[in-house]
Amino acid sequence: MQIVKAYSYQELSKKASEIVIKAIAKKPDLVLGLATGSTPLGLYQLLVEANKNGEADFSKVKTFNLDEYAGLKKDNTQSYHYFMQENLFSKINIEKENIHILGDEGKSPEEECKIYEDKIKEAGGIDLQILGIGSNGHIAFNEPGSSKDSRTRIIKLDEKTRQDNARFFRSIDEVPTHAFTMGIGTILEAREIILLAGKSKKEIIQKVISSQPIPEIPASFLKLHSNCAFIIEE
Ligand code: F6R
Repeated sequence: MQIVKAYSYQELSKKASEIVIKAIAKKPDLVLGLATGSTPLGLYQLLVEANKNGEADFSKVKTFNLDEYAGLKKDNTQSYHYFMQENLFSKINIEKENIHILGDEGKSPEEECKIYEDKIKEAGGIDLQILGIGSNGHIAFNEPGSSKDSRTRIIKLDEKTRQDNARFFRSIDEVPTHAFTMGIGTILEAREIILLAGKSKKEIIQKVISSQPIPEIPASFLKLHSNCAFIIEE
């Protein structure tokens, strides 16, 4: 696991955008794994600019989002469908059929997860996965206790995660209790992973760095990946 230090949020976003832009230039039909949340917002703004300036062409890029709340409609302003549309997809030249977000098929949760895994395989696997990290060490919504071999599934959200994410809702009661998430095993199959962590994640990043790979700190399993970088804001 490589640690890349950034000295501002702007620099963190810039470093991440350079990696994504280079990857698209090298492989125009890149399969890109995407995260939501506050952390990648700067990265998405820079990707939108790069698309406008002709530095990044998304016309052949395929995307797979890490997670989505269970029970929220796509047009709910707190859904990750809505977030991605607002912050990235509506502003770049990506094809609608190349966008994948969990819970889209109108099937049972188990079928949705199986179809998602199949679609990732059909696309040839994820080339580059963007991750954030929860203050409890979660990646995607793999909460503490998730196994390294876990696959895409429905998970009960930790109370800590619901509290952290309550800032986006009117009250904590509105925060869903469950979510769809890619598994840790699914994430570890990506060819390259970059995890972005702003200043507020200092404490959990220290824990990840000093820990063995253990289910109590799901992000620690990223140490098992041979091409994973943490871009951290100091
Ligand atoms: C969201 C996701 C989550 C977030 C994490 C950090 O798609 O995968 O693991 O990355 O909860 O969220 P922020 O960036 O809002 O602190």
